[in-house]
Amino acid sequence: MGRVDVLLGLQWGDEGKGKVVDFLAPKYDVVARFQGGPNAGHTLEFDGKKHVLHQIPSGIFHEGILNVVGNGVVLDPITFAQEIKDLESFNLDLQKSLILSNKAQVIIPTHRLLDQAYEISKGEQKIGSTLRGIGPTYQDKMARVGLRLGDLVEPDFKQRYEKLRDRHLAILDNHDLDFNIQALDEKFFQALDVLRQFDIVSTEYIINDQLSQGSSVLAEGAQGSLLDIDFGSYPFVTSSNTISAGACAGLGVPPGKIKEVYGIFKAYCTRVGSGPFPTELLDASGEDLRKRGNEFGATTGRPRRCGWLDLPALRYAVMLNGVTKLFMMKVDVLADLEEIKACVGYEREGVKTDQVPLNFTEDWQLLHQSFKSWSDGQYQSFGQFPDELSEYIHFIEQNISVPLTLVSTGPDRTQTVLKEETIAL
Ligand code: IMP
Repeated sequence: MGRVDVLLGLQWGDEGKGKVVDFLAPKYDVVARFQGGPNAGHTLEFDGKKHVLHQIPSGIFHEGILNVVGNGVVLDPITFAQEIKDLESFNLDLQKSLILSNKAQVIIPTHRLLDQAYEISKGEQKIGSTLRGIGPTYQDKMARVGLRLGDLVEPDFKQRYEKLRDRHLAILDNHDLDFNIQALDEKFFQALDVLRQFDIVSTEYIINDQLSQGSSVLAEGAQGSLLDIDFGSYPFVTSSNTISAGACAGLGVPPGKIKEVYGIFKAYCTRVGSGPFPTELLDASGEDLRKRGNEFGATTGRPRRCGWLDLPALRYAVMLNGVTKLFMMKVDVLADLEEIKACVGYEREGVKTDQVPLNFTEDWQLLHQSFKSWSDGQYQSFGQFPDELSEYIHFIEQNISVPLTLVSTGPDRTQTVLKEETIAL
């Protein structure tokens, strides 16, 4: 019988999901995105080239894989058309290898404007949204007024678009934003021509048919568990369920089909946008990590906030997702540092805890443990790792009680060290 494995980020996004999906993709028949939209930026590097994907699943560069944009995704036709254009030089047969759910919600230009207007009105409390229209589109989905990709072929699509747009314009009337609605409409309808070249179908049938034929599906998460709408650092979160449960709702697969849940985390921690970040380093060492790790947003280019690994938060994410295997990324960034630290617990007024509090440790003190750094190198197997790195890995495995089976030592596909039993399909 077929199976679904889920791969997702355990921190605040940007863990390196694109690289690992691209690396694992050849083992799968289907790669599917189940939530989020153009707020994501999944970076892949191979043959000396770097490529960032926003809405298209990261299996796209491998032949013979079906890539699915699931119903849980919010899709922006304008960004999509640009992404397709950017992929032209790779000569991929995209119409064959990419299908889109007819139930995915459509981001229209005024959703982006609303995102801006809402952020401005939040003032000091702004979320630091990517301003890609994600929140307002999910809002319309829940309010049951949104447009779905399947609606594009309906004869009254234009009227329905205008109705939704006018609803947005009425709200925008109270905000001071500069825009030209005719130009935005035009760009949107031009982009629809690109979208219409693709199969827009009930992808839930296709995925379940594949599963009954014994195929393997890799569900590719976007953002990270600490940005989950229910369990993340609310309200500084994204608007979808980023945890593994989101894969079922966002693709239409039953929970029993999920086998492995691969949880990706960086050897340290980053966050882009506002909100609590307990282990953030606000001094020169944070700046140093940012430089070493080239920590700038793949979608917005914003500098990412950097800090040490937060083990209680990681354990929380592992619990919520039912992670079966841990993948640790960017260990090269911590190489040759004088000292490495990890947060192992929190304390307030003499009371210790290792549970993540409601507002993510505002007013809590952090309990840290120090580790020795390791020397950088091109390691081919776990056995070749320097003792210091093996100790760090061992400590994390003990603390989290899940095996760590993949370590990334650099951005390229080839800089990936895997334990043999990691992917047993
Ligand atoms: P939104 O999803 O664009 O509304 O952004 C909400 C919050 O999630 C902001 O703090 C963003 O910086 C963050 N965020 C959204 N998508 C990503 C991502 O793919 N990586 C990292 N952070 C993200």
